[in-house]
This record gives sequence, C-alpha cells and structure tokens, in this order.
Amino acid sequence: MHDTAPAKHGLAAGDHRPDRPDWTIAQDWERYTAAEHAVWKTLFERQSRLLPGRACAEFVRGMADLPLGADQIPNFEQLSEVLMQRTGWQVVAVPGLVPDDVFFEHLANRRFPSGQFIRKPHELDYLEEPDVFHDVFGHVPMLMNPVMAEFIQAYGQGGLRAKQLGVLDQLARVYWYTVEFGLVLEDGAPRIYGAGIVSSSTETRFSVEDDSPNRVRFALERVMRTRYRIDDFQETYFVLDHLDELLALAQVDFAPYYQRVRGAAEHAPGDVLASDRVLTRGTGRYHARKRQGAAA
Ligand SMILES: [Fe+2]
Repeated sequence: MHDTAPAKHGLAAGDHRPDRPDWTIAQDWERYTAAEHAVWKTLFERQSRLLPGRACAEFVRGMADLPLGADQIPNFEQLSEVLMQRTGWQVVAVPGLVPDDVFFEHLANRRFPSGQFIRKPHELDYLEEPDVFHDVFGHVPMLMNPVMAEFIQAYGQGGLRAKQLGVLDQLARVYWYTVEFGLVLEDGAPRIYGAGIVSSSTETRFSVEDDSPNRVRFALERVMRTRYRIDDFQETYFVLDHLDELLALAQVDFAPYYQRVRGAAEHAPGDVLASDRVLTRGTGRYHARKRQGAAA
C-alpha cells in the first residue's frame, strides 16, 4: 500500500501475537542496527525539510520540545519522560497492528502503542503496518499538545463503547479524518496536523498544495458517514478552524450521532455535498487519472 498508514483497527496480524496480553514488547533500542538508524535519518531529514509552511505550529512546537533528532531512532523511555511531564502520555512498543480493544485500552490510559520496527530502505514509501517512523514522527509531537492528548484518550474510551454498539466503522472515520489526515486553518491557510500526512513526503505536499483534493470544513456527522481510502491519498480532507475544536469533540455525547448515522446513506471519499462548507473544491484530477490507468 501507499505510505499513508492503515488505521489500527481490525487488521491485527495473527502471526506475531506477543506474550503479554496488552501486546507490548520491549523496544530493545540497543538492537537497532546502523542501517535501521540510517533509514530513520533519511526519513527524518526528508520530512523535516517539508514541514515549514505545511505542518501546523503545534506540531512543529511538539517536535522541537521532544528528544527527537535525525541521527537515531528515538528511545521510547526518553520520549515518554518528556511526554509524561507535558501531557501524561507515554509511548509503548508493539510489534505492529494490534486488535481494536487492545489499541483502545492503551489510548484510554494515555499509552500510545508504536510499531517497534522500521521500514526497509527499499520501501521508504511503501508501508503495510505503521512503523516507528509513522508512529513517533507522525503522532508523538501532537501528543505534546494538551488538546490532542485529551482527544485521543477520549477516542480510546469511546472506541471500546462503539465496538460494543456495532458502530466502530463510523467512529473510526472520526479518528481517520482528524488524528491521521486532519488539516487545521492557520492564518486562513490549511496546515497539517494529521500523522498519516505528516509522515508521508508525497501526501504532505498533496494535502495542502495540490488542486486535486477537496478541502471541506470538518463536520462530525458528515465525517462519520464518509468512507475513506487506505490505499492512496485522500480525496477529501476535513479542515478544523482551530485545534480546540477537538476538545469539544472529546466531550460530545456520541449516542445521538450513532443513532442517526446507523443505516444512513454513506458518502464516497470524493463526494462534495450541498451542505458542505467547501474551502477548496478539488479538480479530482489525481484520482481520475489513477482510475483511467487502472481501467486501461
Ligand atoms: Fe497512525
């Protein structure tokens, strides 16, 4: 798949279930090889160059305050020490995708499960499961932000409930279009806060500069009814006016939303609705070209 990482839902690989019931493993930082640190460095430097003017200020600030650099894969204990002081979060190592309930349980307790492995040098833009670069570079800087810290914990708590109610797909779309692929306005221009974007060099540019995707004001029920792409760039990005909106979202009672979206018609990833507040109406050119290519 493309280097937009998949959601950690329902995709657990069964062949590497660890011994601990919460699926955590030791990071074994000393065992990373020079070649693995070199992959981190390549990715870190490539992405860092792209951030100015594209990533939101909160992301850049979080990054600057963390013990993160180009030279080596970060040590989770050192990251957690700083994170814990700031927002009460920590980073724990997992072998890859984990089952939904394990994932939610970690988030509900302010533990962010991060892939322990790093992608291979020949697959810098090709990733089947979130690795340490996606999880740490993409997610951890925003976990330094108190609003995001609160929101992701609430998502973990809500996820456990949504699973019991059979509406996990609808809730997972909220996470997808915010935590993974969210944009936020800064001085009137869209900036990236989503980890799936900010850990991908191609989507970093595409999401804020290309004329192909739609950029639409975030609206909760709309997002809960909108399917997403896991195999390519998004066709639509949902944009917050301000990150503080996530705080209100963390406190929303989802029960009435679940009632309304259950059984309601779903929207395709590229749909633009009459009720949307459209910031940019995309040309759709990128995905149209892909579809032509696939049909040829
Ligand atoms: Fe992610």
